Amino acid sequence: MTITVQGVIARGKGEPVELTTVLVPEPGPGEALVTVQACGVCRTDLHYKDGGIGNDFPYLLGHEAAGVVDAVGPDVTDVAPGDFVILNWRAVCGRCRACGRGRPWYCFNTHNASHKMTLADGTPLSPALGIGAFAQQTLVASGQCTKVDPAIGAATAGLLGCGVMAGLGAALNTGGVGRGDSVAVIGCGGVGDGAILGARLAGARTIIAVDVEDRKLDWAREFGATDVINSRSTDPVTRIRELTGGFGADVVIEAIGRPDTYEQAFYARDLAGTVVLVGVPTPDMRLDLPLLDVFGRGGALKSSWYGDCLPSRDFPMLVDLHLAGRLPLDKFVSETIGLDQVEEAFAKMSRGEVLRSVVTL
Ligand code: APR
Ligand code: ZN
Ligand code: ZN
Repeated sequence: MTITVQGVIARGKGEPVELTTVLVPEPGPGEALVTVQACGVCRTDLHYKDGGIGNDFPYLLGHEAAGVVDAVGPDVTDVAPGDFVILNWRAVCGRCRACGRGRPWYCFNTHNASHKMTLADGTPLSPALGIGAFAQQTLVASGQCTKVDPAIGAATAGLLGCGVMAGLGAALNTGGVGRGDSVAVIGCGGVGDGAILGARLAGARTIIAVDVEDRKLDWAREFGATDVINSRSTDPVTRIRELTGGFGADVVIEAIGRPDTYEQAFYARDLAGTVVLVGVPTPDMRLDLPLLDVFGRGGALKSSWYGDCLPSRDFPMLVDLHLAGRLPLDKFVSETIGLDQVEEAFAKMSRGEVLRSVVTL
């Protein structure tokens, strides 16, 4: 039976978002219906609304969410009604060449629900990142649901569904930060602060935060940065080298997605060090680096998709570390808001006033 819920949609490029009626079909094979309890407002939702991701309007926004499974399709065995889950946007297929080589976090064939949620008049909706969780209920592929300990609470749990996981994973999975390493993080929004937290968890000795806003640098210290650099007034490459015995950091994480800050990351790392690009560039961006430096400095230049996370492995583990008091994920929640305040939350995000506004239902 189709159900009627309220959801936040972007109807057209640049138009303010709208709270409207959404029809959600019952789950078919491989699908799950989830009652959303919390969903963070991520920059990617704003990109959808601004037309930066595609032109498949109307979009049902929201993708950083946690909730409870309400119903599952006929053949679903991995989750069951009543399970508390974090939604992920990379449900791995288990069969593609990446999965086949035992590297499912690179899965090239991730999937979403095949049935469409619609507007009241039947117009099909495009759910953001295949999730669409600024809604009371949403339909996803069952593999997009990862069961975790409900004691964490939905507002904090949902953060692991996107930005914070990307940052944590950039340090832990892609960067392979280890005990005693020096790490620099350029850009300290939700993603960069996630990387700082990941570096701290991994035992990094020096964690240098770089941003252009002092407020962001204050927050970065709270997450575990040992040193901070405002790159508006101080050259970050020189300062990172000074703070690391004149050499550069073992791992530099770029969490903005810009050529100029990528170049800083490239030169701020030690010889044979690692650069991790977790910030997402736009199609017009180009990079110009002396190829001899790429060769001569050695090491690894890596990209981190979604923190190279494997939700089934990483979400329950990170939730348990949080519950054990070892990962202060709740610090990312700047405010909780209603479904009708998403537009306002975009404005606060653009002004840099929040790390995460989280819609709670
Ligand atoms: N130098 C240093 N810091 C900068 C610069 C710059 N030139 N430009 C912006 N910043 C800082 C901002 O002040 C902000 O603190 O980078 C941070 C970016 O954070 P957010 O805008 O909150 O973005 P976030 O959600 O952390 O995502 C960062 O990762 O997943 C991607 O799409 C996402 O590309 C985005 C990036
Ligand atoms: Zn696969
Ligand atoms: Zn996101």
